[in-house]
Amino acid sequence: MARYLITSALPYINGIKHLGNLAGSMLPADVHGRFRRAQGHEVLMICATDEHGTPAELAAAAAGQDVRTYCDEQHLIQRVAGEAFGLSWDWFGRSSNPPNHRLTQHLAEALEANGLIEERVDRMIYSIDDKRFLPDRYVEGTCPHCAYPKARGDQCDNCGRLLDPTDLIEPYSTVSGSRNLEVRDTRHLYLLQTKLEGRLRAWLESKTDFPSLARSIALKHLDEGLIDRGITRDLSWGIPVTKGGFPRPGFEDKVFYVWFDAPIEYIGATVEWSEQTGGDWERWWRLDKGADDVRYVQVMGKDNVAFHTVSFPATILGSEEPWKLVDVLKAFNWLNWYGGKFSTSQGRGVFMDAALELAAPDYWRWWLTANAPEGSDTAFTWELFQTACNKDLADILGNFVNRILKFTETRFEGRVPEGGEPGELEEKLYADISAAIAEATEQFEAMEYRKAAQAVRRIWVLGNEYLTEAAPWTALKTDPVRAAVIVRTALNLLPLCAAVSGPIIPFASATIAGSVGLTTPLAWPSTDAKAELSKLAPGAPITVPEVMFRKIEDAQVAEWTERFGGAEAA
Ligand code: MF3
Ligand code: ZN
Repeated sequence: MARYLITSALPYINGIKHLGNLAGSMLPADVHGRFRRAQGHEVLMICATDEHGTPAELAAAAAGQDVRTYCDEQHLIQRVAGEAFGLSWDWFGRSSNPPNHRLTQHLAEALEANGLIEERVDRMIYSIDDKRFLPDRYVEGTCPHCAYPKARGDQCDNCGRLLDPTDLIEPYSTVSGSRNLEVRDTRHLYLLQTKLEGRLRAWLESKTDFPSLARSIALKHLDEGLIDRGITRDLSWGIPVTKGGFPRPGFEDKVFYVWFDAPIEYIGATVEWSEQTGGDWERWWRLDKGADDVRYVQVMGKDNVAFHTVSFPATILGSEEPWKLVDVLKAFNWLNWYGGKFSTSQGRGVFMDAALELAAPDYWRWWLTANAPEGSDTAFTWELFQTACNKDLADILGNFVNRILKFTETRFEGRVPEGGEPGELEEKLYADISAAIAEATEQFEAMEYRKAAQAVRRIWVLGNEYLTEAAPWTALKTDPVRAAVIVRTALNLLPLCAAVSGPIIPFASATIAGSVGLTTPLAWPSTDAKAELSKLAPGAPITVPEVMFRKIEDAQVAEWTERFGGAEAA
């Protein structure tokens, strides 16, 4: 058995996340974590809120709250929503907590000691009307690469390029809208990434295990050439540069850049977990303390890849300390809202809290996994959501579970029947199921979410087809022993369905397992289908659950379209 450290990109604190955020980082991380746990591996699943930087300050200002109060509230809201979606984090930390302060200051010192930090005079945008510097998202303007008119100071959302605020054409302040800006000198610390280019490339080229999207984005960024990056900002909220023993006259009012401290919170959150649970964080992060046999998996949207393949590894490698680096990085394209983008700032799309008012978490988990934006961007529409949930969950899985349990209840006194031997149909079923389990295992391991969902669905379909073909209701009239074999076999498909579905739809998995007296999480099945389908003890009682998946009605789709918008909203 191996050890898996799994992190998803840390959601910004600036408000509850939309389905696009969920689909491209937190949910797939959870699915993989559940899968690896079911296989019997030791898993540590870490997430946290990313609380510093301009997104936090701007959102707090918009909410009329001081930043700390805002962050306290929003952290709780995000934690509650994540748990309601079944995100089974071992720890959901906060980048503003003390461990991250300590680690960030420590790593900056290590980089400094290794000659990788340099103080430079920067020319930064200063807003005369706002009386302050405008770092990152405090300034927007036209992208110099693609002419997108609302590019942010740190990154263009349209072409994905990382930007410097002074790159923007016709910049304006996002605090006041003022264009009364000038460029002023201010001193900042730079991380000399250019000195690490060779090591970064060698490391990245050794990462042949990275799924293709992450690898191609990472190599593209390296090929474009590395630049030294400013790692401090003229802000008040954040991790202070000098209050941690880092001596830098003139930096008393500056903080580290959010993208410098945020990934360090992967470690910080693990320290939080240790402190609260008595765990041993070093065993997961320090190569000199046993972390060399950890497999570290990161999950994120494509806009985050450069930070995780260049910036964060530069911090780690440059420290010359034995920290664990990522082994597998799974990246996602965008989930779109109809033809356009989900937008937190513009409130467009469905957000995690509202989503749960409409449908149970498994509906969302199923759709977002089966339609994961892997090969290309993917559009969410109400119609696609309705069709897939009704067909896959209600007609296939729900129907199968319900049919066999009802039949057992009415014709076999609610017990797993005894007697008889499997015949030809069962042998064929074993072969088909074995192949489907092998396929599902392979796709979950490869983190190919769409294919994994299809393999799981295939097992549900095989169950339905078997039941229809074997027709125990007919057999019962002439050959009750044969009927018993069929019903027992079909009942044994339930824990198998529950096991393979568990990573994606854990709530339904628990219901299905419960109907045959088992509790989840169930172990991942072997490919020996005959053994897997012979586990239930003859005579054991079953129970019929309430309707598992109610269909989504056209009227609901109409109502939701009205409430959230649809095609016209994007
Ligand atoms: N908050 C960032 C985003 O949503 C992701 C940060 S990932 C981290 O894009 F590792 F840096 F924290
Ligand atoms: Zn652009």
